Amino acid sequence: MSADASTSLPSESNPRHIAIIMDGNGRWAQKRMMPRAMGHKAGVKAVRAIVDYCARHNIEVLTLFAFSSENWRRPVEEVSMLMSLFISTLQKEINKLDKNNVRVRFIGDRAAFSEQLRSKITEGEIQTQNNTGLTLVVAANYGGRWDLSQAFQKIAGKVSEGELLIQNVDEQCIDQHLSTADLPEPDLFIRTGGEQRVSNFLLWQLAYTELYFTPTLWPDFNQNALEEAIKSFKTRQRRFGHTGEQVLNKTITL
Ligand code: FPP
Repeated sequence: MSADASTSLPSESNPRHIAIIMDGNGRWAQKRMMPRAMGHKAGVKAVRAIVDYCARHNIEVLTLFAFSSENWRRPVEEVSMLMSLFISTLQKEINKLDKNNVRVRFIGDRAAFSEQLRSKITEGEIQTQNNTGLTLVVAANYGGRWDLSQAFQKIAGKVSEGELLIQNVDEQCIDQHLSTADLPEPDLFIRTGGEQRVSNFLLWQLAYTELYFTPTLWPDFNQNALEEAIKSFKTRQRRFGHTGEQVLNKTITL
């Protein structure tokens, strides 16, 4: 029997880890003749709705690309507006997230952030570190290449100190030195706003992730839109290099 996508069994389970590039805030605002800042503010509302959905539907990890290493190239006013928005959002939301058992984590190079933002980030992580519900990972000043470089630096350091043998530098070792070391790999990647690119997001971690692109602009991406993406994920057959027959006949463990 042929076992291409049209004959594959839908996955019964929800994705454990959803990773999202939240694109389209600027265009959402421009379409309404508003300043781009209003698009980012509307984007925060969408973040709230999506976090709420994931927390209620037992998604284990939600990773949101809030600010890429390349976003510093934006006009200085937009960058500082985004920084203030991160600080005020964290301040406003952290108690509610904590009450909802959400564990908040940041990945990315925080050295470039202001002292105020860095301390809000650390406070938020400490306050929620023992929560056992959704893990909300905010990728801020994050880049996939940065993540790999910092992992290689740590590994090289350990090799030169004699703590690690070169022959033990394998995929698992690299994985353990990434900023996502203790998290499951993303099952579902979503990019809103119509572009079909990964844009230096979780480069290593996305190796087997199902990709979903939608033209919906991020501020319009609501719980129904997320359900559509999850529905699409559930129709896909994940083979991880095996044949469709092996997956259908359950002769292997994925
Ligand atoms: C991309 O849209 C969006 C961003 C660079 C910022 C995303 C940030 C938020 C939604 C705020 C989230 C806050 C927290 C604390 C998680 P764009 O500006 O590139 O849109 P465009 O492509 O239409 O110009």
